[in-house]
Amino acid sequence: MCGIVGYIGNQKAAPILLSGLTKLEYRGYDSAGIAVMENGKIEVQKDKGRVSNLYKIKEIENLQGNIGIAHTRWATHGIPSKENAHPHTDNTKKFAVVHNGIIENYVELRKELEAEGYSFYSQTDTEVIPNLIQYFYDKDDKNDELKIVRAVKNTTDKLIGSYAIEVLCNENPDIMVVVRKDSPLVIGKGNNENYIASDIPAILSYTKDFYLLENLEFAMLSRDSIRFFDKDLKEFNKKADTITWNAMAADKNGYEDYMLKEIYEQPTAIRETIGTRVNEGICKFDELNFTKEYLSSLKQIYIVACGTAMHAGLAVKSTIERMSRIHTQVDIASEFRYRDPLVDEKTLCIFITQSGETADTIAALKLCKEKGAKTLAVTNVIGSSITREADYAIYTHAGPEIAVASTKAYTSQITLLVLLAMYFAQILNNISKEELGNIIKEMLVLPNKVEEVLKSTEQIKDIAKHMFKEKDVFYLGRGIDYTTAQEASLKVKEISYIHSESYAAGELKHGTIALIEKGVNVIGIMTDTNLVKKTVSNMEEIITRGAITTVVLSEEVAKDLNTDIFTNVIVVPNTEIYLSPIITVVPLQLLAYYISKEKGLDVDKPRNLAKSVTVE
Ligand code: M6R
Repeated sequence: MCGIVGYIGNQKAAPILLSGLTKLEYRGYDSAGIAVMENGKIEVQKDKGRVSNLYKIKEIENLQGNIGIAHTRWATHGIPSKENAHPHTDNTKKFAVVHNGIIENYVELRKELEAEGYSFYSQTDTEVIPNLIQYFYDKDDKNDELKIVRAVKNTTDKLIGSYAIEVLCNENPDIMVVVRKDSPLVIGKGNNENYIASDIPAILSYTKDFYLLENLEFAMLSRDSIRFFDKDLKEFNKKADTITWNAMAADKNGYEDYMLKEIYEQPTAIRETIGTRVNEGICKFDELNFTKEYLSSLKQIYIVACGTAMHAGLAVKSTIERMSRIHTQVDIASEFRYRDPLVDEKTLCIFITQSGETADTIAALKLCKEKGAKTLAVTNVIGSSITREADYAIYTHAGPEIAVASTKAYTSQITLLVLLAMYFAQILNNISKEELGNIIKEMLVLPNKVEEVLKSTEQIKDIAKHMFKEKDVFYLGRGIDYTTAQEASLKVKEISYIHSESYAAGELKHGTIALIEKGVNVIGIMTDTNLVKKTVSNMEEIITRGAITTVVLSEEVAKDLNTDIFTNVIVVPNTEIYLSPIITVVPLQLLAYYISKEKGLDVDKPRNLAKSVTVE
């Protein structure tokens, strides 16, 4: 996965492109480059490493051109290197291209082009694209204004895979052509200038009016026009969407890192996600026309997602089951899609994805549609690919999440899915007005409780100081607390590179306890009063073996417990059990954050990871 930006207007393109790339670095950051039209000639500059390296290149500082394209890379084909960095040009240097996605048949295309005398200078799949464009362009005898769009279309006809592509051509120095398939691309409309990017926040400080390009739509941009063409190059009109996020929301806003900012944004994100969905003791999902007949006809609900989004599914599985009395399963998208799952029209399939662009989750959704199931996407990004594939889409309102480690998206997803579970219960008459009222009441004060947890960072910083040199850490919990253990464990490993594992506390005795010895760090989560005694007895077993223990307890659990046996005790406010993962995860997100800071790591951009995994 990579990030792409483009600019065409009257300002100097290079600074705009670099600023956009910086905002897209979460999508990839092993090399970067730009191409700017300088007096009718394409000037390419690129380097290995972060976007910040481009700021040091003198030639980029001197670029005066007003049209350009840019790319930040997350390597898939070919190691991170200057040669493999984008933009790539064709053999005649007439075209420059940046590409996000994967060309699956690039080996065959490369052979075909080599047979025609073309040479290749990188190991990327992308380099076939500018050469194919040039091949088709030069073969086309018709010298009209659409010649370049035709060359791009003839090229995409040959490509198998996913792509968002920007094309510059020095024979058409005042236009730019873009196209996408299964990789995101948005066009921002300015005043006598236009912008392109992989996502909206990258260019949100310049415009609020956006066109969301659909699969196999082509756009030809000049300074003052944007022309759209369908897959058969038939021209059509497209309506722009106006975005209400402000640029500040996508900026660090005074925080040291996006992750910290996003952790602190959770109360707002939860509030916004609840929004107007609860009214006079009722949960509302007007966009879903689910009837009692439909819900009663269901044999099962499948929740499919990846990473943190999958953990959000685990955190609500028993809530959905309890409230709908429908058997609910949670699966990892990359496993689900390849094992011929038992899904039919009596299955409701729910797909959770912050970005709405995760390749495995989208592929799983398509599979479920083929099998006749209704599909419901839960996402944070309006207009994202999954919303265009799903039968229904409901949104978390977490605002842009930039840090690779997901935080506010997770707690917003759980919030929305608990609301959905209550909506099912209402329709099916499975819940009393009183119980519904109590959960809603608790949900409405949840943001304040999360705010309370966010005030006690000193204790967590202190624990992080003692933990950051560890090699291993274990997370334990039972029931819903086990799902928080899973998410907390992922958080610490992805940003601090400490080996970490989560276990259902009752499983310890079945093997893992062999790893517990003096000095090993174990984190226990205990909020379920029905299960706390059992987990405490597991914790005692590991204390006996010399483990250092940190526990996250609800006030109710803490008051009846001899907490002196634990090394560190974090107490969080009480809440409804269904909502408890939203509170218990917060101190553990902070712990992961501060451990990473203690280690001096790049919190927002952990090694080898990208924000959205748009390839398999
Ligand atoms: O955009 P998505 O929610 O589909 O992304 C899914 C995962 O890639 C994502 O949650 C990932 O696990 C995060 N880095 C975890 O912090």
